Amino acid sequence: MKYRQLGRTPWKVSEISFGAWAIGGAWGSVDDTESLDALRQAIDSGVNFIDTADVYGMGRSERLIAQLKRERKEEIVVATKAGRRLPQQTVEGYNEKNLTGFIEDSLRNLSTDCLDLIQLHCPPTDVYYRPEIFGFLDRMMEAGKIRCYGVSVERVEEALKAIEYPNVQTVQIIFNCLRQRPADLFFAQAQQKRVGILARVPLSSGMLTGKLSGDSQFAADDHRNFNRHGEAFDVGETFSGVDYESSLWFVEQLRRLLPASVSMAQFALRWILMFDAVTCAIPGGKRPSQVAENCAASDLPPLTGREMSIIRGIYEARIRPAVHQRW
Ligand SMILES: NC(=O)c1ccc[n+]([C@@H]2O[C@H](COP(=O)([O-])OP(=O)(O)OC[C@H]3O[C@@H](n4cnc5c(N)ncnc54)[C@H](OP(=O)(O)O)[C@@H]3O)[C@@H](O)[C@H]2O)c1
Repeated sequence: MKYRQLGRTPWKVSEISFGAWAIGGAWGSVDDTESLDALRQAIDSGVNFIDTADVYGMGRSERLIAQLKRERKEEIVVATKAGRRLPQQTVEGYNEKNLTGFIEDSLRNLSTDCLDLIQLHCPPTDVYYRPEIFGFLDRMMEAGKIRCYGVSVERVEEALKAIEYPNVQTVQIIFNCLRQRPADLFFAQAQQKRVGILARVPLSSGMLTGKLSGDSQFAADDHRNFNRHGEAFDVGETFSGVDYESSLWFVEQLRRLLPASVSMAQFALRWILMFDAVTCAIPGGKRPSQVAENCAASDLPPLTGREMSIIRGIYEARIRPAVHQRW
């Protein structure tokens, strides 16, 4: 496992880290024993950074991470998020009283007295135009409740606005070979300001593992079923917002490039790591075998220039027109 500097924070984090949404819920049934084994495997594979949120199983994901931290002596940096427990996503909801309550709950779930990193969790765009919300986060740092803060955004424009605030240390954004726009402009700006970038949905909700087909079925409580058209939250969070048939077409083009003994998940993750501006990819994993496979991507050789340009070409051909300017 290789490590990269997380923006201006004190931490060097594993370039393949761990996304803890699926072990909380909304991905079909999960088993806490298996989830804990997946987390343990991550640490055994060199992961030292975990992304979670208060809403992932309403504290279930955070509590599993607290349990892991009690068991292990390695330093593990935990990023959580706040804001999605609001009954409605309004700018007014991101007020001091609500955010204080969310932070206190995360402190309890994570069994700690100071959160390493808190991220505003895909708030409405206008939140980024409210300096007082960032001022509140500054005060939470001074009060010792949080070590630092960042944002998780839907759109590149939100990311560009967020990094105007000097204490925004990290931006989490969807970035994978089906969602390439962040690399166009945002990455250079973030690098200039030494802001860490967390690449989320790096496997496009499992699509970029190459295991899905036109016949794949998902449980009723899996967002790949209930949010396929954005019914519950931003459609971009499910299969990166790319329509299923076009994604399957893309995966078949990608399959032709796979080197021997490299899985598609590893190839897709290694593609993300080709971008220096990215601090880490945070693939979700429900089982130890998935986690071990994903972490091994860090040890692969870089993709060739030819591979990179073929991937850009297939993106341009059929994916870009559907998603590029949307997020
Ligand atoms: N708004 C936000 O801030 C936001 C939104 C989305 C995600 N995130 C963060 O980003 C993280 C990653 O995104 P994501 O979990 O949505 O999607 P992802 O990482 O693209 O896909 C994860 C899913 O792919 C499957 N998978 C993973 N590795 C595999 C492997 N090696 N072989 C086969 N299948 C594999 C697993 O599901 P199955 O086994 O069920 O197929 C897993 O749950 C999340 O966990 C969360 O921490 C944040």
